[in-house]
Amino acid sequence: MYNFSAGPAQLPNEVLIKAQHDLLDWQGCGISVMEMPFSSDEYKQISDCAYNDLSKLINLPDNYRILFLQGGAYAHFSLIAMNLMGHKATADYVQTGHWSTRAINEAKRYGQVNIIASSEQSGFNQIPPYHQWKLDPDAAYCHITTNETANGVQFHKIPDIQTVPLVADVTSDFLTRQLDISQFGLIYASAQKNIGPTGLTIVIIRDDLLNQAMEIVPAVFNYGRQAQSRVNTPPTYSVYIAGLMFSWLLEQGGIQHFELQNRDKAKKLYDFIDSDEFYHYTVDVADRSIVNVCFELNDPEMTEDFITEANHNGLINLRGHGVRGGIRASLYNSMPVEGVDTLIDFMQDYSANYSLPTLQNTVSHS
Ligand SMILES: Cc1ncc(COP(=O)(O)O)c(C=O)c1O
Repeated sequence: MYNFSAGPAQLPNEVLIKAQHDLLDWQGCGISVMEMPFSSDEYKQISDCAYNDLSKLINLPDNYRILFLQGGAYAHFSLIAMNLMGHKATADYVQTGHWSTRAINEAKRYGQVNIIASSEQSGFNQIPPYHQWKLDPDAAYCHITTNETANGVQFHKIPDIQTVPLVADVTSDFLTRQLDISQFGLIYASAQKNIGPTGLTIVIIRDDLLNQAMEIVPAVFNYGRQAQSRVNTPPTYSVYIAGLMFSWLLEQGGIQHFELQNRDKAKKLYDFIDSDEFYHYTVDVADRSIVNVCFELNDPEMTEDFITEANHNGLINLRGHGVRGGIRASLYNSMPVEGVDTLIDFMQDYSANYSLPTLQNTVSHS
């Protein structure tokens, strides 16, 4: 079975088997990770190892901190504004689809939000070209969503913004391609796509931004407070699974390896869609996502049947996000190349079968 869910997404078998092995008794200590005090030596070892492996994977510069928090990226849409707009009244946002729009709507509660570029007019089918952005040098930060999970568009070049800190929601493409962390003031991601199970939200922040918070920000969500010392109980089990994922990613060859593989997987699927008139996609080729491939059947009435047939063939969770419908194949790090090949084979058979009666009709009528 191949699970194309956009999130919570599939995890590698190796990670699940390791977790199963450790479930009742972590490394002979007699208890499960779920039962450990977060102040224990055992949990400290798990958390430090996850922190160090993640730092290695992303080449974390010395002046950045990784925070293992909760709330999900949706909560951090507000928390980013509360943590970074303490001294400045405005923030810039680039609107590229469903999730950046949610981020904008939340941030508006805490200050003035300037939408400095938007692709709404074109149905969020592209990333607005950087030269059109109207950046405000006095803004607290400029926010982007590196990959729009629902719309299937992605920044393939991260803009080099010098004037204000660049803040990015990287929830759906974190660790799927190399990023230069020093280009950002802050990045954040929910875990359930490429990192592990839900419950963990990772925030990576540059040191100089740790003291920009508003008075009202709750202590557990104050990035500066959390960086100083742990305020509350961390999502220990999610951090543990994330740690297993990080070590698996390193063992497999690191992000460089996965980036190449992810680009190949996506290209294969897009190339196939381009070659078969039965399917199409509407996003601009230059901005199409390598992790959430969104496409449609030319006859939208066939969509439900396609999804049902795919399920019967062990290809599950292909339904597109509610805001745009159609089909979405999420090809995160854990999706093997064989999963994409199997999907393409299925799509080929499906279109051939569907086209057959039409062909026979043509023959019998001629
Ligand atoms: C890009 C992006 N941002 C934010 C979110 C919201 O994440 P959560 O539901 O974990 O808060 C999602 C969820 O799919 C997402 O894809």
